[in-house]
Amino acid sequence: MAQGGRLAAKTALISGGASGIGAATARRFVAEGARVALGDVQVEKGEALARELGEAAVFVRLDVTSEADWAAAVHAAQDRFGLLTTVVNSAGISVPASIEQESLEGFRRTLAINLEGTFLGCKAGVAALKGGQGGSIINLGSALGVKSGAPFAAYSASKGGVRLLTRSVAIHCGQAGYDIRCNCILPGAIHTEMVEGYVAEGEKAGAAREQVLAGFAAAHPLGRLGRPHEPADAIVFLASDESSFITGADLPVDGGMLA
Ligand SMILES: NC(=O)c1ccc[n+]([C@@H]2O[C@H](COP(=O)([O-])OP(=O)(O)OC[C@H]3O[C@@H](n4cnc5c(N)ncnc54)[C@H](O)[C@@H]3O)[C@@H](O)[C@H]2O)c1
Repeated sequence: MAQGGRLAAKTALISGGASGIGAATARRFVAEGARVALGDVQVEKGEALARELGEAAVFVRLDVTSEADWAAAVHAAQDRFGLLTTVVNSAGISVPASIEQESLEGFRRTLAINLEGTFLGCKAGVAALKGGQGGSIINLGSALGVKSGAPFAAYSASKGGVRLLTRSVAIHCGQAGYDIRCNCILPGAIHTEMVEGYVAEGEKAGAAREQVLAGFAAAHPLGRLGRPHEPADAIVFLASDESSFITGADLPVDGGMLA
């Protein structure tokens, strides 16, 4: 994709920005002229990426389950770059377990990071953006928040929640007269650390790495896994003024999985 100034003058806070889709989004945002704060619990990885991206990036330690961390991260980002225009809620975990395997503790942990973390990111985002020139909040849902499978009891519950939370935030901001849009992308399987976690689980259960990856690929009509820059490109669009009349939407980036 050609790179340019599609996000010139945008200032973003990206949770989960140290790895995978969040890191790819940070790279694409900076290439399009934005300045980005990377919020993550992985400090070394996040700091290394911020160094690589240079003056346009800063790392802030952010545990998305902590409301105080969100306040501090917004403050640090605005201190460095000025008023925020964009929040991307990409932090998330996926621990495979069926309803019989999942513990209440595990279920609550997934909901705390994926759903409550996104709730807190939207809350902090609305508060910050309405004090400035408005902007765009982009949440990471999942194709597995629309359809499910046996090992996704907690994950699908969390991502289905993210999808509808997105719509509520979008409607509220529209009705309140804030110039804030809120949208959600629904990735299929994207080859990141998260998918590598499933590969490791599969290997533990005796499957070959290639077999697990082929299983993921077969779930998409395009016949392959997604690459991290593919959801990141969709996030660039939703963060840019090119999507100025789009709010409350789910955008599948799923190789046709939901078709
Ligand atoms: N990879 C996929 O196939 C896929 C598919 C659909 C949706 N998603 C969603 O996309 C988002 C990004 O996933 P990814 O594939 O890039 O995974 P990833 O594991 O590469 O990155 C997730 C990041 O979130 C961070 N994180 C975890 N808990 C956190 C916390 N409490 N506070 C702050 N940061 C925390 C991790 O440290 C990591 O850097 C997630 O919300 C995920 O559910 C991924």
